[in-house]
Amino acid sequence: MYTSKISGVGHYVPENVVTNNDLSKLMETNDAWIQERTGIKERRHIKKGDGNSTSVMGVKAAKIALERAKLAPKDIDMIVFATLSPDMYFPGGGVQVQEMMGMRTVPALDVRNQCSGFVYAVSVADQFIKTGMYKHVLVIGAENHSGGLDFTTRGRSVSVIFGDGAGAAVLSRNEGDGGILSTHIHSEGKHKDQLSLQGPSTEHWVPQIIQENDQENIPYYPYMNGQFVFKHAVVRFAEVINEGLKANNLESSEIDMLIPHQANLRISQFIQKKMKLRDDQVFNNIQKYGNTTAASIPIALSEAWEQGKIKDGDLVVLAAFGSGFTWGSAIIRW
Ligand code: ACO
Repeated sequence: MYTSKISGVGHYVPENVVTNNDLSKLMETNDAWIQERTGIKERRHIKKGDGNSTSVMGVKAAKIALERAKLAPKDIDMIVFATLSPDMYFPGGGVQVQEMMGMRTVPALDVRNQCSGFVYAVSVADQFIKTGMYKHVLVIGAENHSGGLDFTTRGRSVSVIFGDGAGAAVLSRNEGDGGILSTHIHSEGKHKDQLSLQGPSTEHWVPQIIQENDQENIPYYPYMNGQFVFKHAVVRFAEVINEGLKANNLESSEIDMLIPHQANLRISQFIQKKMKLRDDQVFNNIQKYGNTTAASIPIALSEAWEQGKIKDGDLVVLAAFGSGFTWGSAIIRW
């Protein structure tokens, strides 16, 4: 059995910065409320005409990751693309990446696991490398949230949290020690409605939505039971990090860098305290980008790496929780 390692990381966020004060011009909200509840100061939104989309941002991040891995698009054996905000209902973003990057006719798999999407995608890529089937798998997490949020006061409890962006990692066959030690992924579908977007879907198709014209519960805007999500997130994050540490006979004190999905700064702080980690053991950048769902971990991973906070031999832990509910972790010896 082979093992895999992350051979390159990259990220891209749109230039357009949207501050909390900018949002307060669109809806009844304010900087103090948003910062106190979520830690977010600003986020990036695609601007009409800037050429970005979910897959375009994914490609921009992927190009950086490939360059850092010293690989060319022709070297990639598979694409795994995680998003909840694809450019099209179908086909998925993976095939768009295959075309835009001029890749061989490699398999392109879309993963739909929302905030856990990147960890799920890493887990899938890791399995293909472990079996020896592929040598280099491109994993992308990308989101265009701003294209589908309710920017009126009605949608404020959700819309202030999310931002746009993309991150990517190349997983390659590991020739040395370490690499991805293990991944752990879970789901609990009974909570599927607590954080969801109901339509358009085959259950809520367009003519029905138009006919119902329900101004209170619009199915094409996300719904989130915030406090319910918060309570489950803090439990599952800690649980799945501990599961990964235990599987490798490691202690939380040995973590060099925990990269939690950037759901909410308060959730990350809660986990940090629960796991007894120091500030320098946990990476947060939600203050600048908001919650970018499947993109949040690879953006954070890429930034942490750029800032020299992840070095060879470090124990890096990725952990996520989100809609589904789904959650997961990856334990990596960098
Ligand atoms: N600006 C100002 N006021 C607001 C806003 C806003 N943007 N949004 C809601 N409010 C108001 C509400 O209307 C409510 O007013 P009321 O008391 O007059 O009824 C009041 O603020 C409190 O609302 P709650 O929803 O109870 O606020 P809460 O303290 O729960 O904070 C939040 C909301 C931030 C969403 C919180 O529940 C939370 O962090 N939940 C975790 C979920 C999360 O982080 N999700 C991220 C995405 S999911 C993921 O990535 C895992």
